[in-house]
Amino acid sequence: MAEEVILGYLQNHDEISDSGQFATDHGLDHSDVVNVIKSLHGFRYVDAQDIKRETDVLTEEGEKYAEQGSPEVQLFLAVPAEGSILKEELQKLVDPAVFKIGCSQAAKNKWVQMGNQISRKVQHVEDRIKDLLLQIRDGQEIDTGDKKSLKARKLIAVQTWKGYSVRKGPDYAPIRRRTATDLTREYLQGGDWRNIEFKEYNFSAKGPPPEGGHLHPLNKVKERLKDIFRLMNFEEMPTNRYVESSFWNFDALFQPQQHPARDSHDTFFLKAPETTKQLPEDYVELVKRVHESGGYGSRGYGYDWKREEANKNLLRTHTTAISSRMLYAVAQQSFTPKRYFSIDRVFRNEAVDRTHLAEFHQIEGLVCDRGLTLGHLIGVLQDFFSRLGMDKLKFKPAYNPYTEPSMEIFSYHKGLGKWVEIGNSGMFRPEMLRPMGFSEDVNVIAWGLSLERPTMILYGIDNIRELFGHKVDLALVKRNPLCLIGIQ
Ligand code: PHE
Repeated sequence: MAEEVILGYLQNHDEISDSGQFATDHGLDHSDVVNVIKSLHGFRYVDAQDIKRETDVLTEEGEKYAEQGSPEVQLFLAVPAEGSILKEELQKLVDPAVFKIGCSQAAKNKWVQMGNQISRKVQHVEDRIKDLLLQIRDGQEIDTGDKKSLKARKLIAVQTWKGYSVRKGPDYAPIRRRTATDLTREYLQGGDWRNIEFKEYNFSAKGPPPEGGHLHPLNKVKERLKDIFRLMNFEEMPTNRYVESSFWNFDALFQPQQHPARDSHDTFFLKAPETTKQLPEDYVELVKRVHESGGYGSRGYGYDWKREEANKNLLRTHTTAISSRMLYAVAQQSFTPKRYFSIDRVFRNEAVDRTHLAEFHQIEGLVCDRGLTLGHLIGVLQDFFSRLGMDKLKFKPAYNPYTEPSMEIFSYHKGLGKWVEIGNSGMFRPEMLRPMGFSEDVNVIAWGLSLERPTMILYGIDNIRELFGHKVDLALVKRNPLCLIGIQ
């Protein structure tokens, strides 16, 4: 609409000298006119020159006095025509802001006698300030001295108005040409392509954002960790089994049946199916024996081992349940050294807070070979963690039912300026390995850590519920950057 009016007008006139006046004359909205002029200027239909005009407008305070009268007049009218009034009494009659300015202006004008008692000095006053403000509001010009004093009292302010003067441009046409964006079959067949004007390519236009899936930060870190394990020649273990029997999760790992971790406070047990259907019976027998009376140089725990406990199904509490299954399978074949890893979900019946959830992910690595020592474990840990950017490690003796010796792993966190615990590790006990069928000279070194911890550190997230679970902001998943660990 505005575009046709502007182009049409320029067909018969040299110039639109003032876009503001033009908008008023043609009943158009000035901001619409401005937008059209900018676009027409961009396509060289018109040449536009900026015009700026400064106008005086009333401030908020100015508006108030234009309505209610100036403070000095309001004050003057509150003073009785005869006699005088106590200052405190007068103060009650007018607005506090009006009182202060009113007093000083009225005294300056010699309208009132100030003091403890206030009285009129004249009987009649005119509200020049209000009149001047009304004139400004009407767009009338006023005396420059008056304008200055209104500005000094902050009753008026300058507002800059922006518009354009417009002339025909080098590519002027009375109607905007439609440019073709595609060379179609019809243009080719009809010969129109000869005359049609094609729209130029805009090589700096931004393309539409590509639609697609986004990896969750946990999955990004998981992928990088998998790369690291593969670079270290580790093979991934199958982790597609959230439900596990207590046997593989605990008993095979020489974890006694009275161990507190096997309590329902710490472990989610299944109602249906409540028990496992199948276990390797010969091996179960050897596990029972090692728990009850030991062997392989061990005295065992000396209690009555119960099959019913081992049969109970649960949600695996650690990925070491997978390691025990895999090692048992390895022991059934003629021996070859193995390097295995897994990264997947585990479940613990824990109180949920900003650093704990009832389900999380574990990263686990193990090496199975002849003649491995604690030195090998420390070496592998140093290799693994330095690839994660953690090259300062410390180890602290710890206890796990299935490893001896066991070590907690600490890394120096530069940001926090202190040592933080990053994982747990150890050498699997003969009480675990020998019943599986491994010979005495085979050792297994292993370690485990949570996936959430390094992910939160890498992505600067301090509440686990922002990373995992139903409260996660999907935009976080879309926006989060690539994971920058590994491949060093
Ligand atoms: N399973 C242990 C845990 O849940 C980690 C671990 C794995 C410890 C392997 C030693 C060896 O914390």
